[in-house]
Amino acid sequence: MLARVHSAAVLGLQAYGVDVEVDVGGGLPAFAIVGLPDAAVQESKERVRAAIRNAGYEVPPRKITINLAPADVRKEGPAFDLPMAVGILAATAQLNGGHLDGTLLLGELSLDGRIRPVPGLLAIALAARERGQPALIVPERNAAEAALVEGIDVYPASTLAQVIGHLEGSAPIAPLRRPPPPAAEAPAGDVDFGEVRGQAHARRAMEIAAAGGHNVLLVGPPGSGKTMLARRLPTILPPLSWEEAIDVTRIYSVAGLLPGGSGPVRLRPFRSPHHTTSAAAMIGGGAGARPGEITLAHRGVLFLDELPEFHRDVLEALRQPLEDREVTVARAQLTVTFPAAFMLVGAMNPCPCGHHGDDGADCLCSPPQVARYLGRISGPLLDRFDLHVDVPRVSPADLTAPPVGEPSERIRARVCAAREHQRRRFAGTCACNALMTAKQMRRSCRLAEGPRAFLRTAIERLGLSARGYDRLLRVARTIADLEGAAEFGEAHLAEAMQYRVFDRSLRLSG
Ligand SMILES: Nc1ncnc2c1ncn2[C@@H]1O[C@H](COP(=O)(O)OP(=O)(O)OP(=O)(O)O)[C@@H](O)[C@H]1O
Ligand SMILES: [Mg+2]
Ligand SMILES: [Zn+2]
Repeated sequence: MLARVHSAAVLGLQAYGVDVEVDVGGGLPAFAIVGLPDAAVQESKERVRAAIRNAGYEVPPRKITINLAPADVRKEGPAFDLPMAVGILAATAQLNGGHLDGTLLLGELSLDGRIRPVPGLLAIALAARERGQPALIVPERNAAEAALVEGIDVYPASTLAQVIGHLEGSAPIAPLRRPPPPAAEAPAGDVDFGEVRGQAHARRAMEIAAAGGHNVLLVGPPGSGKTMLARRLPTILPPLSWEEAIDVTRIYSVAGLLPGGSGPVRLRPFRSPHHTTSAAAMIGGGAGARPGEITLAHRGVLFLDELPEFHRDVLEALRQPLEDREVTVARAQLTVTFPAAFMLVGAMNPCPCGHHGDDGADCLCSPPQVARYLGRISGPLLDRFDLHVDVPRVSPADLTAPPVGEPSERIRARVCAAREHQRRRFAGTCACNALMTAKQMRRSCRLAEGPRAFLRTAIERLGLSARGYDRLLRVARTIADLEGAAEFGEAHLAEAMQYRVFDRSLRLSG
C-alpha cells in the first residue's frame, strides 16, 4: 500500500515542498530511503522504528521504501522523521490517512516518540500559506514561530501519539492562535546610551549614523568606550516594524538560533563576530548553505571590533555585500541568496600600541609601524565608512561625574524623526541617506553658492577623494535632517567634515 505525507525543507531562506511517499510491499523485510537523502536522513530509520514501537504501534517485517520527492534536491537533517512515521502507519493501515492531504508535517523524533524542534519553521509556514496548505503539524517548541503566519492553522504536537490522535480525530489538537503584533515601540534592551559618560562627540556621531543609516568607524585608545558605544547603537535605531521582525525571525529560525517557544525577534540584531572568524562564517555558505554573520545582522548592526585584526580576505569579502545589501553563496550546484542589509560599525586603535595621538599616554610605535597597521584596512573598505570618529580617552572629570548621558529613548525619538524626513523625501525608493542613488543625491544635496565655495576650500585642505566627498555630502544631509532643515548649509558641512579624520591621518602617516 502507498501513502503520501506532505512535508517541507528549506534551501537558503526559502522553503519548498517535499512529499514523503511510503510504499509497504511484499518481499524480504527491508527499509530504504531514496530521493537524495543525506546521512542524517538515513539515520531516521532507527528513530522512526523505535518511535513507532514506543507509541504502541508496529513496523511490520516487510519491504518499506520511502521516497522523498522531488528527488533532485538533497534532503538534509531529521525533520522528515515525523512524516515518515506517519506515512508508515498510514501505509500499513494502522492510521486512517484520510486527513493527510491538506496537512503538512515536520519534526524530529526521539526514540521514545517525543517530537523535537527543527530549524526554519517560519520560512516553511510562509511557503505553506503560499501553496494553500491550510494545516501544519509542528513540534510544540517551534509552534509560536509558525503561528506568526496568518491564514494557516498551526497544530503544536509534542509526541507521535498526539499526532496520531489528532489525525484520527480521537483527540484533536487545538490550533495555536497567532500572537498579536508587537506595539510600535521597541522593548527595552539591557544596555542604554545613558550609561556612556562624556564622549559628547562620539555620542553625536552615533546619533548621526543611526539617523542616516551610515557605517561608522570608531578610532581610539584602549578603554575609551568604543565597544560600549557600538553595543548601544541598536538601542537608538528605529524599532523593527512587523514585516522587518518577520524577516529577521525567519533568518534566525533557519539558522537554528531562535530560542524554543519564542515569538518574533523584537530587537534589532547586534552581531559581533570575533576577529578570527572565517570568510564562510562571516559571509555564509559552507556545507549547509547557512546564513553568515552578515545575514544574521540583517536589519541590525554588524560590529567588527579590532578591525585590523580580521583576516584580510574576510574584510575584502564584505565589500560586495555592503554595496548590494545581499549576498549570494554557492552550494553544490545551487546558489542561494541571503539578505544582508546591515549597518557596519568598526572599532580600532589608532596604532599597534593603541596610544597614537592619546594625550594620556605615549605611543611606542614608529611611524612605519603605525602606517603598516592602518594599511591593513584597504582604502576601498575604509571608503565604506561614512563616519570616522575619534574616541579619545574619557577625562577623569567626565568619568567620575554622575551619569548624565541622554537615555537611548530620547535619542531614538530624534533618529525616528530624521528617518521620517528621509522616508518622505525618497518616497519608498530608498530607506536612508546612506543608500541614496547618485540621482537622488543630486536632487537632495543641492548647494547654494556660499556653502559650495566653503566646500571647495575644505576639500583642498582635507585632500578628500571623490568617494570621501560623496560620504561628506550624505552625512551633511543627515545632519540637516536631524535638524529638520530642508536645505543644508555651511554648519552642516562643517560638522560632517569632522567625521573624515581618517582621510587626514592616513595622509599624514602614509
Ligand atoms: N565613556 C564611558 N563612560 C562610562 N564608562 C566607560 C566609558 N568608556 C569606557 N568605560 C568603561 O570602560 C570599559 C571599557 O570600555 P570599552 O571596552 O568600551 O573600551 P574600548 O574602547 O572598546 O577598549 P579596547 O580598545 O580595549 O577594546 C567599559 O566597560 C566601561 O565600563
Ligand atoms: Mg573594545
Ligand atoms: Zn602606538
